[in-house]
Amino acid sequence: MSQPQKGICAEPNLHGLFLMFNVDEGKEAIIRKKLSVILDIFEHYDEEHYEGMVSGVIAIGSNYWVELFPGAFPKELSPFPDFSEYDRSAPVVPFDLFVQIRADRADICHAIGLEVCELLQGDVELVEQVKGFRFLDGRDLTGFVDGSDNPRGMKKLDVAIVGDEDPDFTGGSYIHVQRFQHNLDKWNRLSVAEQEMIMGRSKEDDVEFSSEYKATFSHSYKMSITDEQGQPVRLLRQSMPYGDMKVQGQYFISCARSAASFTRMLRNMIVADDNGDYDRLLDFTTAETGGAFFAPSVNFIKQHAK
Ligand code: HEM
Repeated sequence: MSQPQKGICAEPNLHGLFLMFNVDEGKEAIIRKKLSVILDIFEHYDEEHYEGMVSGVIAIGSNYWVELFPGAFPKELSPFPDFSEYDRSAPVVPFDLFVQIRADRADICHAIGLEVCELLQGDVELVEQVKGFRFLDGRDLTGFVDGSDNPRGMKKLDVAIVGDEDPDFTGGSYIHVQRFQHNLDKWNRLSVAEQEMIMGRSKEDDVEFSSEYKATFSHSYKMSITDEQGQPVRLLRQSMPYGDMKVQGQYFISCARSAASFTRMLRNMIVADDNGDYDRLLDFTTAETGGAFFAPSVNFIKQHAK
């Protein structure tokens, strides 16, 4: 099987740097070459600083893919799903390239970021740069542990990596990114019991509520979806908290074998069901960006750099 990019299934890190670029017109050939050089930069830092647990992902925006790789299109790559209802929305903000850099050292993320930007200078515009960090024992800034229901070990590959169903794109992954801004003043006015009701799990010790205690508007309830065959719909989430003393939130990143998994979940969050229930977490956090990407395998990027 083609080799997936290392950052897709990597374990959570202490630091992240998330870069969004738009590419200048007519630069496709040079960008195809430079993407391969970016993989070399990730590898170099990984080898030089083994203890830093360095990993990276390069993903190509759904709108830009046809320009960069006109010959072939990942079967399920489509624009970010556009859902909104009342004051709940998921704005669609397409970018051409997403570069995710992660390590257990902030200085290494910074150094890689500088090299990537220097390499791409003159061909792209850097439109977003966000630093993510691990908060306490792996919690979101709402105070809840994030990622506990993520697949583990080899299951990650099964959930996040395209297999033989799309032979030209094995080893790739569908990536969705949303920058959420939290309203922590509003969230922190709730009691812990109210927060737990909204999340569908306990705060301190991170235990999922059993179905009889789980509210039908809770994040956990809304995200527990099965497909037509009754199989659970799953994502690998690689989100991280970001922010400063004024603006804070979650940089949501999901990786999946099928783009449809994210679309189903996002719909379930935003669009109320027959009982009028939507995901009540959305009363306390707002998506400000939303982009759909595909992260091709290492082999694909290397082959197309020639
Ligand atoms: C600011 C936005 C978000 C926050 C703060 C947040 C936070 C959390 C937390 C604390 C958990 C429980 C622990 C865990 O299993 O990871 C969780 C679970 C989960 N989240 Fe989110 N999340 C956000 C957005 C999203 C979005 C946009 C999606 C997908 C469209 C999503 C999908 C999931 C899934 C699939 C689970 C596992 C649910 C389960 O099996 O119980 N989340 N999230």
